Amino acid sequence: MTATIETPLRSTAGSHARPDPPATPDRPARSTALAAQLRARLSPAAVVLADEPLARRTTLKVGGPADAYVEPATELDLVELLEFCRAAGVPLRVLGRGSNLLVRDGGIRGVVVSLAQPAFVRVTVTGERLRAGAGARLKEVANTARRHALAGLEFLEGIPGSVGGALRMNAGAHASWVFDVIEQIRYLTPDGEVIERPAGDIPAQYRSCSFFTTNLALAAVFRGRPDRAEAIGERMAAFNRRRWDTQPRQPSAGCIFKNPAALPAGRLIEELGLKGHRIGGAEVSSVHGNFLVNLGHARAADVLALIDLIRTRAQAERGILLETEVEIVGED
Ligand code: EPU
Repeated sequence: MTATIETPLRSTAGSHARPDPPATPDRPARSTALAAQLRARLSPAAVVLADEPLARRTTLKVGGPADAYVEPATELDLVELLEFCRAAGVPLRVLGRGSNLLVRDGGIRGVVVSLAQPAFVRVTVTGERLRAGAGARLKEVANTARRHALAGLEFLEGIPGSVGGALRMNAGAHASWVFDVIEQIRYLTPDGEVIERPAGDIPAQYRSCSFFTTNLALAAVFRGRPDRAEAIGERMAAFNRRRWDTQPRQPSAGCIFKNPAALPAGRLIEELGLKGHRIGGAEVSSVHGNFLVNLGHARAADVLALIDLIRTRAQAERGILLETEVEIVGED
């Protein structure tokens, strides 16, 4: 990386040596200044929006604004963005498809990145290998594999996320998870270096891969095995039916808690009698206890209050410490 910072954000934004309090009156103005600086650095095809509400970009449909929301057009844009943010002390966070994320009502200070442009969403197939950009939807990966008669990736069909997000949390369903089916990963280090290496080098556990908390996923190579496209399609349809039968249709962030060792979180929440419980516009789904759904007017604070209530009751009544699976970010 060669980019240098001539006008770091803080010097153009005035004397803000102390940490920013949330939602100060001049925040929109500073968001606009940040977005202008980013536009000047990135390619014309990059999308840069100031003060962008994240409720419209997460599946749970809650959460305040990002100071700047950016869709880089190329890997070079992404490297520039990383370099700019590091030099200017601006926090940067990748959004993925916003499907496993709970953004607090105060929103996210700094830059929120989405890898939604064509350079990051391509899915290509060579023999039994399928290469997908970090921004590609898992559903698209599963469907492409089916069209090329490659089995083993059917379980990805119903996971409402991107490849990058799925790597970050080792997403899974139907007794499989992402690290079972990938061979190679491409990523950007915090120093801006692009590296490809075997996925087996990266430790991943149930719903977690800490490597991708600091490194940024760019692409992955999935490995399928030849089978009849029809048989693959049937298995995908069965997974799809099972999901519609057992999971709610309203906006949610997927399962809220990791399954504890003792029993599935959904069953535990059902046994605690909390299904259907509402706070504000959020509800513990009556279809599946481990889903908190947005009834249409929920705030992040409502969802967080439900999370607190469930955790407190699980601890007090069953001695079980529930750990959230969704990532909770932003300011109150
Ligand atoms: N159950 C209940 N009550 C409920 C919900 C579930 O008794 O309200 C029972 C079910 O009857 C079943 C057991 O709990 O016996 C497990 O339920 P389910 O089969 O729905 O699976 P899960 O463990 O709740 C996991 C993943 C899901 C994934 C499904 C399907 C976790 C935290 N959840 O759910 O992933 O879709 O398996 O493979 O690992 C996600 O990660 O966001 C997610 C939704």
